[in-house]
This record gives sequence, C-alpha cells and structure tokens, in this order.
Amino acid sequence: MHRVKSFYSCQSCGYQSPKWLGRCPSCLSWNTLVEEREEKTGHLSIVNSQPPLPLEDLSREEKERIRTGIGEFDRVLGGGIVPGGVVLIGGDPGIGKSTLLMQAMDAVASRGGRVLYVSGEESQNQIRMRAERLSIRSKGFYVYTENLLEAILEEVRGLSPSILAIDSIQTIYTEKLSSTPGSIAQLREATARLIDLTKRLDIPLFLIGHVTKEGVIAGPKVLEHMVDTVLYFEGDRGYPYRILRASKNRFGSINEIGVFEMAERGLKEVKNPSSIFLSDRPEEASGSAVVASMEGTRPILVEVQALVSGSFFGVPARTVLGLDPKKVSLIVAVLEKKAELRVGSHDIFLKVSGGIKVDEPAVDLGIAGAIASNFMDRAIPPDTVVFGELGLTGEVRGVSQSEMRVREARKLGFKRCICPAETGRGLKEEGIEIIGVRNVKEFLHVLF
Ligand code: TYD
Ligand code: MG
Repeated sequence: MHRVKSFYSCQSCGYQSPKWLGRCPSCLSWNTLVEEREEKTGHLSIVNSQPPLPLEDLSREEKERIRTGIGEFDRVLGGGIVPGGVVLIGGDPGIGKSTLLMQAMDAVASRGGRVLYVSGEESQNQIRMRAERLSIRSKGFYVYTENLLEAILEEVRGLSPSILAIDSIQTIYTEKLSSTPGSIAQLREATARLIDLTKRLDIPLFLIGHVTKEGVIAGPKVLEHMVDTVLYFEGDRGYPYRILRASKNRFGSINEIGVFEMAERGLKEVKNPSSIFLSDRPEEASGSAVVASMEGTRPILVEVQALVSGSFFGVPARTVLGLDPKKVSLIVAVLEKKAELRVGSHDIFLKVSGGIKVDEPAVDLGIAGAIASNFMDRAIPPDTVVFGELGLTGEVRGVSQSEMRVREARKLGFKRCICPAETGRGLKEEGIEIIGVRNVKEFLHVLF
C-alpha cells in the first residue's frame, strides 16, 4: 500500500526537512516549518517540448508586445507586456498594487482587449468601488472573485482573455493538495498550473504577491524563479510617490523605474520626477545637496539632506532613510580622515526627500556635500548640483552617463555642476558651468 509521506517545509524560503525544527537551517527564521504531505502533482512543462535543434534553427519569431499606454508601466516591463510572459508584482499592503494592475488592465481593455482580473481577497463590491474611483468602464474588463484554482483555470479556458491577473497568488489554492491555502506547496502548485495554462494559450499573466516584514515576496524565492519578471512597487506611505522597479526581467533591463503619484482618482504617471522631488527644497539652508542620479536610462535629480549634531552618548547615532547606511559610514570615515572634518563622533541623520531610495555610486558626493554643509553650517549655493563616486583614499571617481546628468540639471535651471575631473573633462553644456574635482578636499573647496 502506498504510504503518504509527510515532511516539513519552511514557509519563508522553501527549505524541506524530514522532521520538525524550531528554526530553519537555511534562512534562519524561527517557527516557519510546517508539515506538508507529499502528493503527486503531475508533470508540468512550462515550455512546449521539442526535439533538440541546432541553435540557428530555433524559431526567431518576435512576439509583439502589448502596450498599455501607461508609459511608466510599459518602460519598466521593457517596452510593454510580452504575450505568455509571467510578471510577479510585490509590495507592501496598501501601497497600490491592485490599483496599478487594474489601471494597466483597463488601459488594454479600453482598446478592445478582453481582460480577466481574478481577486481572491476582495469582494465584488470592493472591486466595483475601486473601479468607480478609477473611472474604469471598459466593456472587456471581467472580474472574477474566486480562490479555487480549478475554477479559475476553467474560466480562463472559457473566456480566453488577452491578459490574466491574479490578486493575490497567496489566496489561491488547489483542491488537489491537502496543505492549507497560502502554504508553500499550494503556492508552488497554483503558480505552476497558472503558468502552464497561460504559456500554452500565450496570454500574459500578472500575479500580485504579498511581501513579508523583511520586504521580500512571501513564500519566497521559489516563486521568483518560476516567473519571467519580478516587479516591486514601493514608496513611503507618508508621500504620494510610488516607484515601480524590476528586480528580475527576462524581457528587458532591470534598471528602469516607473514613477507614479497616488492621487484621489488613482495612480498618475510622473513624467518629470526631478522637478517633483526638488519642489520643496529649502534654499540657502545648510545640509541640503542636490545630486544628479541615474535610474536606468533616466536622470533624476534628488535632494539629500543631512543633520549633524553633537552626540550625547558614547556611540554616535546614524539614521539613514533612502540611502545605504554602509555607504554613509564609509563616506563619514573618508570625510574624517581625508578632509579633516571631525564628524565621526557626531550623530548623523540623512535622508533623501520625497521618500524615494537611491542606490548608485554617483550619490556619494551628494552625501558628502550634505554632511559637510550641515557640519560647517554653510549652505551649498542653490544653483549647484553634484555627482560622483568617492573612493576610500578620498579620490573622486568617474561615473557613467554624465552628459545625461548634466543635461537634466541644466533643464531644471542649475548653473553649476561639480563632478569627477575625469568625467568633467570632455563635458560641455551651454548655460551650466562644469567643475571637475579630483578628491574630496578639492570638492569641499569648490562646493561653497
Ligand atoms: P490598493 O491598490 O488597494 O493597494 P494594495 O493592493 O497594494 O494593497 O491601494 C491602497 C491605497 O491606495 C488605499 O489606502 C487608498 C489609496 N488609493 C488612493 O489614494 N486613490 C485611489 O484612487 C485608490 C484606488 C486608492
Ligand atoms: Mg490589493
């Protein structure tokens, strides 16, 4: 007789163990192992099986992408939705994932497409209320509130929509497995079968995924491996701005970001993020520096703010929002050693305004400039923009795409740009003075 074997699997990373453990040996989280039964789930092939072929005989058909017309969304996807592509969208609760997806699907439906939006977490009434708020009236926008995978697959076959969205994948379960809905086994099975069907029908599939406290998609890496594209929708709840970022994309670059603003009636595209992120900048105040940063192919100017104050405790505090704290420690050390700025024993608070995150070598000079400015209590002239990487010996290193950074700065009315000497040499742009610096001392000398 066939015995059903059971095992324990970690709900956060997918690790499997024959016995229960209090702590997952793989991801080190506590109390995440849950008993699951081994069940036959059948074979799933995600790509159609074909005999081996020489590389040159492979089909080269370029599938036409579906453009939603929401520029910020299409760009992050790499130029539109790929038929048969599977996109996972993660983000904190309440950040706007359902809103984004409904607006994108409506954009397709309004041009005659038929789209199916499956919700496993909201009632028809809640969805209708959101749709009204977003003025969604397209005839081809179908809504289905259901959690059972088999029922969903059935409807997809019947309706054959041009896009399928599942909100959220964690709420979908299959009757074939006895594990509880939301468990790793359920998640993996539901995702695999949805992908199998949509790849076969060549329709794009969007999955919304919940994120855990740590900010990764719940249930794990397993899910990220199965899909073609992983997007994160992020932002600070206190601000209206939202950023869509790709962390994996088989059909495009992962450097592009899309910027949106959450308004009364849905998400609006932000076509010129720089002017918004700089809009409330205090001029003539010490501790504020404007950096020309790049997000993918797009230059974005952001303001870095620093507050440096005497520390009352033995260990100085470092509070950093929107920047990498390790990078900040490093820059503080360079300022201390190479520019003789005694900031190391002070409390330092740093943030990027607008609630966005920047992580790029070129913001180094902005961080150094903001800290030095507040520490010395001297304002950086409001028409000055900086960019460049800072090395550990205090050298200012060249960065890429400097022309685009300078052009964006000039467009927004800046008159002076301080950048690495190496990049600055070949650079010329009318109406803006370009000052190349070789090290942190030179930088501070020309900054004020
Ligand atoms: P929602 O898309 O439900 O977020 P998620 O699916 O990521 O949990 O959006 C949640 C928030 O967005 C909600 O708190 C209200 C706000 N919101 C607006 O400000 N304007 C709008 O037009 C809509 C639809 C939502
Ligand atoms: Mg939602």
